[in-house]
Formats: sequence, C-alpha cells, structure tokens
Amino acid sequence: MYMATVVASTIADIMKARSSVRAYQKGKTIPKETLRGILELAGTAPSAWNLQHWKFIVVQNEERKQRLLPIAYGQKQVADASAVVIVLGDTQANKNAEKAYAGAVEAGYMTQEAKNTLFNNINQAYARGPELGVHEAIRNAAFAAMQFMLAAKSFGLDTCPMGGYDPVALRKELNIPERYTPILMMSLGYAEKPAHETGRFSVDDILVEETF
Ligand SMILES: Cc1cc2nc3c(=O)[nH]c(=O)nc-3n(C[C@H](O)[C@H](O)[C@H](O)COP(=O)(O)O)c2cc1C
Repeated sequence: MYMATVVASTIADIMKARSSVRAYQKGKTIPKETLRGILELAGTAPSAWNLQHWKFIVVQNEERKQRLLPIAYGQKQVADASAVVIVLGDTQANKNAEKAYAGAVEAGYMTQEAKNTLFNNINQAYARGPELGVHEAIRNAAFAAMQFMLAAKSFGLDTCPMGGYDPVALRKELNIPERYTPILMMSLGYAEKPAHETGRFSVDDILVEETF
C-alpha cells in the first residue's frame, strides 16, 4: 500500500516531466552505470509471451553520430545529444523462447508439459507468416522504447523520439541484421533548452465508454 502510493506518484511526476527535448549540451558523456540503469528499467517492459522483442543500439561515437545526421534528415539533436539510441524490434522473437524460459521448469515456475504447450503455441503463431513477426516486433518493442524514455527522465536525462529517418540507410550504416526492424530513433542527453510546450487531447476526447 505504502510502496504503491510512492511509486505511483513518482511515475506520474516523471510522465509529466518528460518531453521531447531537441537542444542538448554538446560534448557530455553519459556515465556507463546510468546508461545501464536506464536499459535495465527499459527491459522491465511487458511483452507477449515474455519474448522481449527489443534491442537498443547506443551510438556515442562522434563520427558515427555525424554519419547518422543526414540519415535523420539533418535533425540536429542527433549530432548534439550525448547518444543516439535506435530501438530495434525482433521480428523472429519466437527464437527467444528458450532463453526467456531457461530454468523455468527447474525452478518450479512451470511444468515441462506446460512449457512444451507454450512453445508449440509460440511457434505456431510465428509460422503463420512474417507479418505477425513484424507486427509483434513493433508492438512489443514500443513498450520498451517508452519505458526507456521515462527511465532516462528518472535519471535526469532527456530524450526525443524520432520517426524521421531513412530506415534503409540506417540499416546499412549500423549493419542491422534483417531479423531486426528499427522501430524508433531517440536522442539521449542533457538538455540545453527545455522542449517547447505541447498540449494533449482531453480525457473526454480520448475516452470511449464501453463501445463506439
Ligand atoms: C513515433 C514518434 C515519432 C516522432 N518523430 C519525431 C521526429 O522525427 N522529430 C522530432 O523532432 N520529434 C519527433 N517526435 C516527437 C513528437 O513530435 C512529440 O512527442 C510530440 O509533439 C509531443 O511532444 P512531447 O513529447 O514534448 O510531449 C516523434 C514522436 C513519436 C512518438
């Protein structure tokens, strides 16, 4: 009860404080533990069958960031922020099942029979065709991307999610294997200027009670 209250209010504060920052202090390095802390929190996101359909490419090398700049159509946060993070969705996440459930039977979380049934279900779903794998990659990795941005804010860092990049050029530049699809680029760093104000639709605008 006590914990729930504290966590909820902290998360609400972080959600309200996050915004898309486009002006960063240049030349600042993110401590390794901070980056790892953010990734650890991002990785607590839920995913279908716990297949954890995400990977994060973190680019901090100045020259590489410069090469990403034209790929992101010159958006200057790509060059100025301490890091550029590319969230990848795993289109073949069924292949993660062994790792995700390693030791689950031995630890008594599930029976061998339940594990077999689960793996059958997963593989049958993915055998329906590549479209499912792509949809699942986007859907599931998006949760981790959102958690990454909130986690970053909790560590005092800012982000800007970006869909404005050339995915073909990005794949080539970073040698992204076919299995993974880039779902979002994000800048990560220390704000120089706050984001511009943005508004939101009201609850009445977004709520549909029961049915349309
Ligand atoms: C999928 C997605 C793609 C976006 N692409 C870009 C982008 O390419 N460049 C940019 O400056 N902002 C981009 N944004 C940021 C939005 O403009 C921003 O989230 C929105 O205006 C609300 O502002 P706020 O995040 O500061 O609250 C993107 C956001 C999302 C979720």
